[in-house]
Amino acid sequence: MKEIKFGRSPFLFATIVVILTCFVQAKELIHEDQIDDLDAARVKPMEQISEANLRAAESKRAFLDAYTVFMHPRCMNCHPKGDTPFQGDDSHLHSQGVTRGVDGKGVYANKCSNCHQPQTTELEGAHLPPSHPNWHLPPANRKMVFEGKSPRELAASFKDSSFTGFATMERFIDHVEKDPLVQHSFTYGNRPPLSHDVFVARVKEWINKGAVLPDK
Ligand code: HEC
Ligand code: HEC
Repeated sequence: MKEIKFGRSPFLFATIVVILTCFVQAKELIHEDQIDDLDAARVKPMEQISEANLRAAESKRAFLDAYTVFMHPRCMNCHPKGDTPFQGDDSHLHSQGVTRGVDGKGVYANKCSNCHQPQTTELEGAHLPPSHPNWHLPPANRKMVFEGKSPRELAASFKDSSFTGFATMERFIDHVEKDPLVQHSFTYGNRPPLSHDVFVARVKEWINKGAVLPDK
């Protein structure tokens, strides 16, 4: 019978234990690294998602601010559902049997420009017709209704080129920024709740951050 010699075995045993421990630790290290990677993989898209969420929330908020202007009587009075414009801060129907007409400029002898003079006068406001050379409603074939629309509905309308007649959102921005009628609405009577500059900035922010539709 061959005798098993244990003379070197404590050293051998210790060596094996050290090697095994190394393996186990290395395995654990790899394992931990993998977990880190996994976490990183999980965290990154979540950050991206929440950044996107933030942008969307800011876009909606910007539209809600701009909405207070769109729906203000100085604007909404010319953007009614029906064919009669509104008057005053309570948006009552325009008197004198005024109606839109095909081109938005009134009918027959009852043209907007008969009473709404081209030259701005000192007397503007106080129950006098606001004066502007281009004073009229949107035309019959594209009424551009604001009245009665929720923020979500109005925002959707603005993104619809058949509603605005604008091929791009840049043209839309141009309109709210430079259209003389829009600018004029900030100059008489009870003013809209935002200045024209702030209003334009809000419209731009809404569009630049994705023109996201508000929830309601
Ligand atoms: C005197 C009537 C009148 C007033 C007041 C008026 N608008 Fe308009 N609006 C029009 C007409 C008319 C058009 C059609 C484009 C054109 O012919 O210039 C129009 C078009 C628009 C459009 C582009 C089309 C659309 O509906 O998407 C926007 C946006 C708009 N108006 C915003 C405003 C805002 C904001 C105000 C107030 C700050 C305002 N309007 C006040 C008559 C008016
Ligand atoms: C017969 C004269 C007359 C005609 C025609 C006329 N308007 Fe007026 N309009 C007035 C008067 C007067 C006021 C001011 C009423 C007030 O403040 O009490 C007024 C006010 C308005 C207002 C309210 C403005 C605001 O900011 O509250 C709008 C909008 C308006 N007119 C649109 C029109 C349009 C569009 C036409 C043509 C389709 C038109 N009007 C034709 C006399 C007229």
